[in-house]
Amino acid sequence: MDYKLINMKVFGDERGKLISLEGNRNIPFEIKRVYYIYDTMPDFERGKHAHKNLEQIIIAIDGSCQFVLDDGKTREEIWLNRPDVGLYIGKNMWREMRHFSYGCKLMILASEYYDEKEYIRDYGKFIEEINTSF
Ligand code: TYD
Repeated sequence: MDYKLINMKVFGDERGKLISLEGNRNIPFEIKRVYYIYDTMPDFERGKHAHKNLEQIIIAIDGSCQFVLDDGKTREEIWLNRPDVGLYIGKNMWREMRHFSYGCKLMILASEYYDEKEYIRDYGKFIEEINTSF
């Protein structure tokens, strides 16, 4: 399973807290794209895709949601619910996001520009690709 949880260094004092994210330093790739998800609803799921050539770090800046991660052999569920923990997801990992808290805010750092062609949005095709490429 090519994922890991990364604890970010927090600079905190009586004024509040700050976390700095830097490509090729505490983020294990060059950051080419940042996007964020907000106004989420508990009854709606997102994701349900894999990326052939993309690494990502996902941070629940506010609120929580559950990630289902699947490498074609194993399926694991993890909760993202802290602004100081980043979920790294490598290439060829199926992901689903669900059980969003109302107004959860996810920030996503990506290693590549958006390219719909490198998405695998069909689970059957994902399993096929995994079995043919490894
Ligand atoms: P989608 O892949 O459905 O989001 P999620 O991974 O959360 O399920 O993306 C929603 C829409 O946004 C879809 O039309 C593609 C578009 N989009 C971009 O144009 N650029 C991006 O960087 C991303 C992530 C999505």
